[in-house]
Amino acid sequence: MRQHGSWQGDGIYFGADYNPEQWPEQVWAEDVALMRQAGVDLVSVGIFSWALLEPSPGRYEFGWLDRALDVLHAGGIHVDLATATASPPPWLAHRHPETLPRTADGTVLWPGGRQGYCPSSPIFRERSLALVETVADRYADHPAVVMWHVSNELGCHNVHCYCDVSAEAFRGWLRERYGDLDRLNDAWGTTFWSQRYHDWAEINPPRAALTFANPTQQLDFLRFSSDEQRAQLRAEREVLKRRVRQPVTTNFMIGMGIKHMDYHSWASDVDLVANDHYLTVTDPNAHLGLAFAADHTRGVAGGDPWLLMEHSTSAVNWQPRNVAKIPGQLRRNSLTHVARGADGVLFFQWRASRAGAEKFHSALVPHAGPETKVFDEVCRLGADLKALAEVRGSRVDAEVAILFDWEAWWGVELDSHPSVDVTYADRMRALYDALWRAGVTADVVHPSTDLSGYRLVLVPTLYLVRDADAEALRRYVAGGGTALVTYFSGIVDEHDHIRLGGYPGAFRELLGVRTEEFFPLLAGEQVTLDDGSTADVWTEWLHPAGAQVVASYQDGPLPGVPALTRHRVGDGTAWYLATRLDEAATDALVGRLLTEAGVRPPVAAPPGVEVVRRRADDRSWLFVVNHTDAEATLDATGTDLLTGQPCGGTLRVPAGEVAVVREEQAATQAVPAVEPSPAAAA
Ligand code: GLA
Repeated sequence: MRQHGSWQGDGIYFGADYNPEQWPEQVWAEDVALMRQAGVDLVSVGIFSWALLEPSPGRYEFGWLDRALDVLHAGGIHVDLATATASPPPWLAHRHPETLPRTADGTVLWPGGRQGYCPSSPIFRERSLALVETVADRYADHPAVVMWHVSNELGCHNVHCYCDVSAEAFRGWLRERYGDLDRLNDAWGTTFWSQRYHDWAEINPPRAALTFANPTQQLDFLRFSSDEQRAQLRAEREVLKRRVRQPVTTNFMIGMGIKHMDYHSWASDVDLVANDHYLTVTDPNAHLGLAFAADHTRGVAGGDPWLLMEHSTSAVNWQPRNVAKIPGQLRRNSLTHVARGADGVLFFQWRASRAGAEKFHSALVPHAGPETKVFDEVCRLGADLKALAEVRGSRVDAEVAILFDWEAWWGVELDSHPSVDVTYADRMRALYDALWRAGVTADVVHPSTDLSGYRLVLVPTLYLVRDADAEALRRYVAGGGTALVTYFSGIVDEHDHIRLGGYPGAFRELLGVRTEEFFPLLAGEQVTLDDGSTADVWTEWLHPAGAQVVASYQDGPLPGVPALTRHRVGDGTAWYLATRLDEAATDALVGRLLTEAGVRPPVAAPPGVEVVRRRADDRSWLFVVNHTDAEATLDATGTDLLTGQPCGGTLRVPAGEVAVVREEQAATQAVPAVEPSPAAAA
């Protein structure tokens, strides 16, 4: 179990991955001096150092790491020490080529990049745990070490391996899950296409095949693959827990870019949730993607504060065009993470590398040295974070939940579906972004989360849903909640079997509708609704079965058929959106739901100005991030911790700047801005 609040420092941690092994030791003293100048107090060390620490099997060389930790400690810099297992040394594959991963078509992935191991390899497991034991024994009591960092971004590159070792492990995992072959055959629907298995040995991972592979085989392989990565985390954690007293974490990759690790299931294996986040520079709303990732990380952390383990000071090196951050963007990005629950802001990496694949990745100390815009901004951020020390440990106000389930993501994006245009990110981000534009903070949480504290629950594209989770949503609504479910939700059970009797299967009764057939639209095809809004991608032949019709199609394949419905259930209301509304109509719908549910933003703010409230006991802090190029004026009373200036009712935040107001009187939890609309009471 995570130990609540036990990992934080004195304030908001500030730091980076630090790779002293890439530099002559003379540089280390300058590093520490610059860290102190910038206010850095936590660095992750040793992440990719296995090949140096264990130059040949069982022969360890720790001299440089001993000296590096001592130098850091002498400078007052804390260390998040890596188990160093992220990338095996070349000798492992040389001696044991069977540890190399294989793709679905059998291609061997050779060393030369990183993370080049089969996640199910017993040899990798044995050698990596031997290293963890040795590192842990050596540094358990080192005074610099405040935290342990298992591996690095587990599953980033090697999550799916199709080799014979993986195939055997997959069969073991399936035996564990199903017990006997009949149950597996039923779950996988193997009467279809002559796929029935009579011997476990006949089963393989979904290797390259003619036409579509069995969908449940694919889904189980995705589950297995996430579990195999998790097993490495758990194995390393277990070794650490027998030897060290500091909290243990690993860096997750929560966002809509990385799909294959079910972090909801991993959260109980770390003492604190840590996340890495990088902007997608081609996304004009990248700062909304950042906010989403942060709110989801907080959801995975059960609402507790979390640690931003990595982001970038400026450009990365791995996108096709690596756009640099404009002045002020680094600060807005970092402080948005803090606003949304991060109690530490770390980066990849401290000093930009001279060599290797990431030499063009930004850092805190660029190639040009500290006389730079980047290092100036780093120092400013260090001062900001110091000023925010009192925020540490507080929690984020949110009255809206968005349900997110990695299994639903995997399921909805399997092949041979009605439309390739139905992706998990699409409505997830559309609804989230509409909330963002309305100034409302959401928790992004697993469907099994207790929803009773939320005024509004949004359920985008929950294609795969378990009975218990569907029932929990029904209870939430019946108890007085407001929910919105979007199309292609509730369609299948956990085996990817259709829920019969009409769509949207699991939610049919809750929503008071029954759909008999999907009518997806062609690329570029649009329909108009009778309220004037437009939609694309999806329509369906829906019959109200208790629900009231809010809007219907005016044209397209289904004129007159309902597209948006609402259904009173017990004391609450369940809305169903059966088409992909344009952005303005999505904003209008979300606005209507917020009003009906009595949710309002912490304070009214101009468009493009992000406002989030953190609170602890009797205190609260208003984070205001101005993403626009004009000064913003808001109502706030208290002291801006970043400028030290009081604000007596009106807060002015210059273009591109950030303010964090300690509110004079802790804000009460938001109360309904308006009474529920008469329609809601109907
Ligand atoms: C990931 C890794 C780091 C580094 C950065 C570059 O987050 O964990 O080692 O490769 O990406 O953006």
